[in-house]
Amino acid sequence: MIHIIVAIGNQGEIGYKNQLLCHLPADLKHFKELTTGHTILMGRKTWDSLPKKPLPNRRNLVISRNKDLQLEGAEVFASPEEALKNIGIGEEVFIIGGEQIYQLFVNKADKIHLTHILADFEADAFFPKINPEEWYLCEEVPFEKDEKNPYNFIFQTFIRKQK
Ligand SMILES: NC(=O)c1ccc[n+]([C@@H]2O[C@H](COP(=O)([O-])OP(=O)(O)OC[C@H]3O[C@@H](n4cnc5c(N)ncnc54)[C@H](OP(=O)(O)O)[C@@H]3O)[C@@H](O)[C@H]2O)c1
Repeated sequence: MIHIIVAIGNQGEIGYKNQLLCHLPADLKHFKELTTGHTILMGRKTWDSLPKKPLPNRRNLVISRNKDLQLEGAEVFASPEEALKNIGIGEEVFIIGGEQIYQLFVNKADKIHLTHILADFEADAFFPKINPEEWYLCEEVPFEKDEKNPYNFIFQTFIRKQK
């Protein structure tokens, strides 16, 4: 199964200057709970942006066109197809960004775990628009801001509609 996991602002923004939009510990906890024990797949720029890498207790996969690239703790693949060929049957894969990699996988994914942060951010990276004809919103869990999490947000789960 291919999952996408992403946090967006009101305009679909996901990042600025190769950083996340903001620091939301409750969302990071949610990310960790969903992805731990599974495989995560990311673009080379998102890998570069991780403060601590590889992300522990997960199989870390990175996509890069640089054939000489070697990363400690991650497997590097030259294309999305090559990465998918190396996924076992029954393996749960989480596409964790960034923009380029979401674009490559949004039509291949089965589920989207989306954190909608109810705010507008300066950004240079965006998530593709979710087409309501293709995706069914099956769960919404609101979260109210608190002393550690400066924005209200909603955890939303989308499942691909059957054709
Ligand atoms: N809000 C969120 O949930 C979230 C999550 C993750 C990331 N982000 C943000 O997203 C931004 C980064 O996104 P981005 O689009 O700039 O970078 P990205 O998608 O993380 O990585 C792009 C890189 O992936 C490789 N790549 C792309 N297409 C490829 C293909 N077809 N075949 C092989 N390799 C390919 C290339 O690496 P090489 O240059 O090495 O060839 C390319 O430079 C940052 O601001 C980050 O903080 C946000």
